[in-house]
Amino acid sequence: MKTISQSFGEPALQHAARTHVPGLSASASLALGKDFLWGAATAAFQIEGAANEDGRGPSIWDTFSHTPGKTVNGDNGDVACDHYHRWAGDVDMIKDLGVGAYRFSIAWPRVQPLGYGAWNDKGLDFYDRLVDRLLEKGIQPHATLYHWDLPQGLQDLGGWGSRTTAHHFAHYADVMSRRLGDRLASLATHNEPWCTAVLGHAIGKFAPGAADPVLATQVSHHLLLSHGLALSAMRASGAKCPLGIVLNQSSTTPASGSAEDIALARREYASFVRWYMDPIFKGSYPQDAGLELFPEVQTGDMDIISAPLDFLGVNYYTRIWASAAQPAVPAPCSLGKSDMGWEIHPDGLRELLVGLNAQYTLPPIYITENGMANADRIEHGEIDDTPRIDYVRAHLEAIAQACSAGVDVRGYFYWSLMDNYEWDSGYDKRFGLIHVDYATQQRTFKRSAHWYRDVALAAVTKTEA
Ligand code: FCB
Repeated sequence: MKTISQSFGEPALQHAARTHVPGLSASASLALGKDFLWGAATAAFQIEGAANEDGRGPSIWDTFSHTPGKTVNGDNGDVACDHYHRWAGDVDMIKDLGVGAYRFSIAWPRVQPLGYGAWNDKGLDFYDRLVDRLLEKGIQPHATLYHWDLPQGLQDLGGWGSRTTAHHFAHYADVMSRRLGDRLASLATHNEPWCTAVLGHAIGKFAPGAADPVLATQVSHHLLLSHGLALSAMRASGAKCPLGIVLNQSSTTPASGSAEDIALARREYASFVRWYMDPIFKGSYPQDAGLELFPEVQTGDMDIISAPLDFLGVNYYTRIWASAAQPAVPAPCSLGKSDMGWEIHPDGLRELLVGLNAQYTLPPIYITENGMANADRIEHGEIDDTPRIDYVRAHLEAIAQACSAGVDVRGYFYWSLMDNYEWDSGYDKRFGLIHVDYATQQRTFKRSAHWYRDVALAAVTKTEA
């Protein structure tokens, strides 16, 4: 087994020295610093496929995506990018991309088919091999324990609506940290608990498909509790890598200066950002934001949830535009929208980061996801996704501005390494730097991948010149 330095941001690649980062302004290159970590991200359910192989149990996303009417074209994750079989070639591809870090998630039902009880050696071996291969190639492995694929066996016992699931999760976290922690560069408990709670349990757009706001609020508490219990279990057994959580966040803009729009923006920020940040960093739920539903909290829960973190992962795609008018005043979208219909608003990332830094005492931050869906097409063997290059460049400049304003951002993971299964949107939306032809599983670098490679490689060496 191989080990790497556990310190974040240590460049894993060495290349010929250059004086600046092409594609970024000189001030941004400087503000990001020489140790800034460049990465790309994926998640298990979105790329692995092999849903019924080597002892993997079903997850709630298998059940949900096989339920008619839940996903675009009825798409499911049975094959996805076939990464479970192509993982070695995919690691070579990450190496070719020139990045020093790769963020992936562990499929809980692949390593523990029911979410409780027996462990699956073949699943555990898969992640061992993946991590070792990344290290052999000089790429830092950053793992996430839960990127939405709850074992169906636990859903059958009440899923995240049941407090017991939080204890099962803590046990799973501890087993994985003992198994991989000596080689991981970081381990995050959850990815975007807001999505699990709200999209999965209040709106029903995501698995398990519940539409019950009271349940969703309790689920949000159990997710946070599971995070705290997992941290405490992993710390108790001497976890060897930095531990954190990944939250999806947005700046919030009132559509006008009216009291109604300002109050709405405040409530949106409270339910989207503060609902997760306050418990973790202040040990309480926001009481002052006009939110009506509160979960059942047991004595001691908030202490468990607010245990110190080694890092915070921030995922940012767009801002929240708050208009109380009927009908709502639309967002200006002066820089356009992505193929998801999400407004492109890079300055929101700067605003968000500067705001968080003022509101909380934070550990180092990693931008663990940022990226855009684009209607990419292969023409003459090439994919010209210039809008994606513009998107990434603008967000990197925004991060650099936040760094100059004193925010400690240590790295950036583009979402996603390659096109993949975009949840309820199926294979219809393409976020990758690398194009995937799902009929042949052929991977092709898009123009953005070549651009990102230049940025990542040059950044690693810019101060060596
Ligand atoms: C995030 C998810 C990720 C991907 C992107 C587009 O919310 O974490 O899996 O779907 O959105």
